[in-house]
Amino acid sequence: MSCSFRSSARCFACTTLVLSVAAFSTHAQSLPSQPIASNSDPVADKLVDDLIQRMTLDEKLGQISQNAYKEPDTVSHDDRVKNEQVGSFLFLKDPKEMDRLQHLAVEQTRLHIPLVFGFDVIHGYRTIYPVPIAMAASWDPAVPEKAQRMAAREAASVGIRWAFGPMVDIARDPRWGRMMEGAGEDPFLGSAMAAAQIRGFQGAKPGDPQGMIPADAIMACVKHFAGYGAALGGRDYSESNISDEQLWNVYLPPFRAAIEAGSASLMSAYMDLNGVPASGNHWLLHDVLRDDWHFQGMVVSDWHSIESQTRHGFSKDDADAAVRSLNAGVDMEMTSTVYRDTLAQSLKDGAVPMATLDQAVRNILHAKYRLGLFQHPYTAPELAAVPLVNPEQRAAARAAGARTAVLLRNEGSVLPLKKTGTIALIGPLANSKTSIMGSWSLAGNPADSVTVLEGLKNKLGASATINYTVGVEIERVQPSIFDDQFHEPKPTITTQAGKDAEFAKAIDLIQHSDVAVLALGELENMSGEAASRASLSLPGKQEELLEAAVATGKPLVLLLLNARPLDITWANEHVPSILEAWYPGTEGGNAIADVLFGDAVPGGKLPFSWPRNVGQIPVNYAQNETQDPDSVDRRYWDQTSKPLFPFGYGLSYTTFTFGQPTLSAATITTTGSLDATFAVTNSGQTDGDEVVQLYTHQRYGSASRPRRELKGFERIHLKAGETRSVTLHLPASSLGFWSPQTHHWSVEPSTFDLWVGDNSNATLHTTFTVTP
Ligand code: NOJ
Repeated sequence: MSCSFRSSARCFACTTLVLSVAAFSTHAQSLPSQPIASNSDPVADKLVDDLIQRMTLDEKLGQISQNAYKEPDTVSHDDRVKNEQVGSFLFLKDPKEMDRLQHLAVEQTRLHIPLVFGFDVIHGYRTIYPVPIAMAASWDPAVPEKAQRMAAREAASVGIRWAFGPMVDIARDPRWGRMMEGAGEDPFLGSAMAAAQIRGFQGAKPGDPQGMIPADAIMACVKHFAGYGAALGGRDYSESNISDEQLWNVYLPPFRAAIEAGSASLMSAYMDLNGVPASGNHWLLHDVLRDDWHFQGMVVSDWHSIESQTRHGFSKDDADAAVRSLNAGVDMEMTSTVYRDTLAQSLKDGAVPMATLDQAVRNILHAKYRLGLFQHPYTAPELAAVPLVNPEQRAAARAAGARTAVLLRNEGSVLPLKKTGTIALIGPLANSKTSIMGSWSLAGNPADSVTVLEGLKNKLGASATINYTVGVEIERVQPSIFDDQFHEPKPTITTQAGKDAEFAKAIDLIQHSDVAVLALGELENMSGEAASRASLSLPGKQEELLEAAVATGKPLVLLLLNARPLDITWANEHVPSILEAWYPGTEGGNAIADVLFGDAVPGGKLPFSWPRNVGQIPVNYAQNETQDPDSVDRRYWDQTSKPLFPFGYGLSYTTFTFGQPTLSAATITTTGSLDATFAVTNSGQTDGDEVVQLYTHQRYGSASRPRRELKGFERIHLKAGETRSVTLHLPASSLGFWSPQTHHWSVEPSTFDLWVGDNSNATLHTTFTVTP
C-alpha cells in the first residue's frame, strides 16, 4: 500500500507511525547534527526515580497538571495542593500567597514535592522592558540577555520560577498580532535572540547551559512549538500550513537554538500544523524533539491546547485528547483538566502505558530539581528584600529602550531635536502609561511608567516649552480578551464637536511651536495575542492628523509606538523624520527622550521587511530568485513589489561607509570556515553604532536557495571619523540547509555569493566556493 505520509501527519491507514516517519526523522535530524548535550545528574535521577516509585496514580496525575490560579475549580486550591493534585500554578502574583501554597506543598503533603509557579514574563515582570520585537531590533543579543536576566531576578524575588518565554515563532505576516512577541522574519537573527533570552532567563553558568538554574533566575519555556507564526491569513489561532523545507529551514532553527542554549522547558502550540494539532503531534514532539534533538526538558501544553484538539476535529473526546498529547510527549497540561480527569481510565484501558506517564512526571520533577526547588523551595530572604522597579532595573530598561529604537527617516536632520524652544507633542500615545508598556505586561503597573510627555519634561525641565495634546483618540473596535488585565481607563471624547475641537487644538499647537513630535501608532491591546488585524493602516484618524500636521509646514517627527509595521508610505514621502520606538516599557519616555535629543544615538535595525501595505505580505527578503530577477521591483503592475524598508534597515545620526570585503579563503570545504574582513568608517560628525551584516546565496545545489540569507552580524560602536576593520566569521556549517530533495540537512558544495553592508540590500559583493 502506498502511503502519502507527510512530515507532521500520522497515517491512520496504518496502525502505527509509518516507516517513512522514522526514516524522515533520522535524516531530518540536525540543525546542526549534534544531539543536545545531556544534563544527567545521578543525584537528581535517584531522587526523581525514588519519588516516582512512591507516587500514587492520583499524585502522578496531579504532578502533570497546571492550574490557573484565577480559574474556578471544583476543589479548592488548598485541597488540591494538600492532596498533591497539582504540580504548578500560573498567573499568581502575590508573593505571600505563593509562599503560603509552597509551605502547604512542602510541609503538609505525603511526598513534599514543591510547586513551581509560572508566569508570562515576556518582556519584564514588574519593570517592563521593550517588547521582544524591539529587542530583536537592537541586533544586539546582549540587550535581550540583560533584559531577561533582570526580569528573571524580579520574578524570582516574588517566587515565580518559570517564564513562558521566549517566543521564537518566525513571523512573516504582520497582520498576526503576536509578531510583537518574537524576533521577526529571520531564522538566523531569531536564533541569536532565542539563545540570548534563554541565557538571560536561566542565568546558567557559562559553559554549562544545561546545568542548574540559580535561585535568582527562572526556567525558560521556548514556545510555541511549532509554526504558530505562519497562522493562515495572519489570523491568530488559525492553522499553519508549512512545507517541510520551510519548517526545517525557517521555523525550527530558533527552537533548536533555544534548546542548545539550555531551555529547560518548551510549550507546544495551539494550532494545527499541517493538519495535526501541535499539542498532539507525535512527529513534532517525539520524533523531532526527543528522538532527533534529544531534548531532555519538560514540555507544557499551551492554554487548553490539549482539550481543544477535539474542537479541531482531531481527537474524539477529552480522553482521546489526553491520550494523544501524553503519547506525543506533552508532560504537563496547562489549565484544562483532561489529564487529571481521564488518564486513570485510559491507563486501565491500555491506551497509554504507565511508563509514558512516569516519563512525563520524571521530566517535570527533573525541571523542579534543576530549579533547585527540592533544596530551596522558598524565595531567599535576600532576594525577596530587593525592591521591584528599583533604580538598577529602571536604568537597564532605559538603556534597552534607547538601544532598540530604529530611525527610519531623517531628512534635513530634524533629529536630534534641540533642547530649547517650543515643542508640540501630539498624539494618543504621547501620554499613555499603559500603551508604552506593550501587551505582555501583566504584572506591570502603569503608575511606574514614564510616558513620552513625562520623558520630555524630565529631559528638558525649564529649558523648553512642551505643548501637549492628544489630537485624536484611538480604540480597538472589538475589545481584547486581555483588556481586564490593564488598569488605565482609556480617555474618551464622546462628542463629534469635542473630537473636532481636539483635532483643531492639536494643529493650532503645532502651528505655534518650533517643531512637532507626533506620537502615533497602536494601543498596546492592538498587538499581541488575539490582536490580529486585517489592515496595517494607522488606526482611527491618525493619518488625517498627520496630513494636517504636515500641511502646517512645521518640521515634524513621526514617533511610532507599535509592534508591527504599519502603512506609513505617505508619511515616508512627507514627514521628514520617522523614529520607530516600539513599546519601550516602563522607562520608555526617558529612553525616547534620550534618542530624540541625541543623548543616545539610534542604532537599531528592522528585524523584518517593512511592507508598504497589506497587499505585499509576505515580503520577507529571503525569497527564492525567479526566472526574471530584474522584475523584482515590478511584479505587481499597480505598485512596486519592493518593501518600504528592507530587512536590516535603520539610520543613525551619523553615517557609515563600508569597504570591499576580503575573504580569508576563496575555497573552503563543507567542514571549514572563512573570515570576511572589511573596513567600516563612521563618516559623520557623531559617535554612533552600526550593525554590520553578512548575507550569502548558494548558486546551485539540490534545491533553489533564497536569493539572500543573513549569516552574520555585529553591532559595533565607532567614534566620529573612526575606521575599524571588522571580521565576521562564517563557518561552512551555517550554510547548511534541509533539502527537500535529499531530506537531509547538509552543507552542499557550490559557489556562493557573499555581501556585506548595513541592510539586506547590501551591495559590496564577493564570491567563494565550498568543496566536498
Ligand atoms: C496562551 C499563550 O498562547 C501563551 O503564549 C501563554 O504563555 C499562555 N497563554 C499562558 O498565559
